[in-house]
Amino acid sequence: MRKEININVSESEAQRQLQFVDELKEIYQKKSDELGRPLTYHIATFGCQMNAKDSEKLAGILEKIGFVETDTEVADFVAYNTCTVRENANTRVYGRLGYLNSLKKKNPNMMIALCGCMMQEDAVVDKIRKSYRFVDIIFGTHNIFKLAELIQARLSSKSMIIDIWKDTDQIVEDLPSERKYKFKAGVNIMYGCNNFCSYCIVPYVRGRERSRNPEDILREIRELVADGVVEIMLLGQNVNSYGKTLENPMTFAELLIEIEKIEGLERIRFMTSHPKDLSDSLIEVMKNSKKICNHLHLPFQSGSTKILKIMNRKYTKEDYLSLVDRIKAAMPNISLTTDIIIGFPGETEEDFLETLDVVKKVRYDSAYTFLYSKRTGTPAANMESQVEDSVAKDRFDRLLKEVQAISSELTSKHQGSIQKVLVEEINEQDPTLMTGRLSNNVLVHFKGNKDMIGKIFNVNLKECKGFYYIGELV
Ligand code: 5AD
Ligand code: SF4
Repeated sequence: MRKEININVSESEAQRQLQFVDELKEIYQKKSDELGRPLTYHIATFGCQMNAKDSEKLAGILEKIGFVETDTEVADFVAYNTCTVRENANTRVYGRLGYLNSLKKKNPNMMIALCGCMMQEDAVVDKIRKSYRFVDIIFGTHNIFKLAELIQARLSSKSMIIDIWKDTDQIVEDLPSERKYKFKAGVNIMYGCNNFCSYCIVPYVRGRERSRNPEDILREIRELVADGVVEIMLLGQNVNSYGKTLENPMTFAELLIEIEKIEGLERIRFMTSHPKDLSDSLIEVMKNSKKICNHLHLPFQSGSTKILKIMNRKYTKEDYLSLVDRIKAAMPNISLTTDIIIGFPGETEEDFLETLDVVKKVRYDSAYTFLYSKRTGTPAANMESQVEDSVAKDRFDRLLKEVQAISSELTSKHQGSIQKVLVEEINEQDPTLMTGRLSNNVLVHFKGNKDMIGKIFNVNLKECKGFYYIGELV
């Protein structure tokens, strides 16, 4: 079952799906009674925040059906929500499938579902269809809301169910979602990406850009706040181009102003920002906001204007640096983080030194550094002059050293100050300590108790331990 594009925006789609949920509830209740135990599910999420959010939606549907979450793959329903942004993400999934097969042999009730970005690639689906026949359901990024329908289809069929949509303009609202944290939540504001950076598979697996209506976003956030959420992360591949596709266009800065007004909401985060679309009005809104966190993730990918052009990033090194200057002029204490790719085809030592130069000039609080990974189907995969592995690895190590030196220097500059910390969980190593997060995203551990989780406290940042703090409640 393959669809080129789904253009039926059906308001009743959520209702249709909830009917499948109800039918499955009965079927699985009977199964559970027969077995004398609850039926369990496990979702393994690979990749980015977008996938993490999708997994919460899948969990919401499974919980409504009656499954209970378990933290290992020894479960009655296992889903792998996959990522394909770099080659090693695919390799990890294939590596774990053999293990799932061995579990399924022991549990005839077990159902295995594969979904997410990797499944949007024809070659992957063909391989699974041929070589991993024990998989029950394959679906993609555009139709996760159909999970109940697909489980139903699998129960009444003898073979693997495959349902991949090439693209969609459908946004289904009002389906259940099971949050990982009670006090913080991701909120999709848009889906897809139109940028086609030449190395990136995302536009091919997540489809064209489409924004949610502001009313739907605001309603969701109000409901989350009423349910105990104090921090939200607005999610989109390129949040700075939010609203362009709406019937009544609205900018991201305007959306933020509306979100800020929601009473009870304490912190607003967002990702990811594309430098080419970051407006001066957004900088202004961030500067004046009491709720937007003191952190901006601003991927630059390469410091070489020549490489940026081949990457199709649509800005030069100078554009990027001048944008950073404007941001720092408005918010001198802002914490900046970034993504950098090393070893993009054609990258010379001079190009690499330009990248290093940006790192030294901007001084990032932290940076995600990636070795270029060739993704079949992207323009860069066919480019000549791919950089040799050993050369890329050497540059990567030199970059990492620089990034880490700056990062630990910047993190330690808050030592001795008192800052607001949102308490997230009990410390894994020492249960007398609580772990919380500063507005700039840095972690702090300090003495406390579990009743503090989800609340904001003033903490004295006593000692910097490189990338985190040991603090003391004030
Ligand atoms: N190789 C290496 N890194 C990549 N990214 C995206 N595609 C590739 C690729 N083919 C990185 C970019 C992006 C981050 C999410 O992943 O830096 O910002
Ligand atoms: Fe990929 Fe570029 Fe879109 Fe980011 S903006 S998802 S890097 S194509």
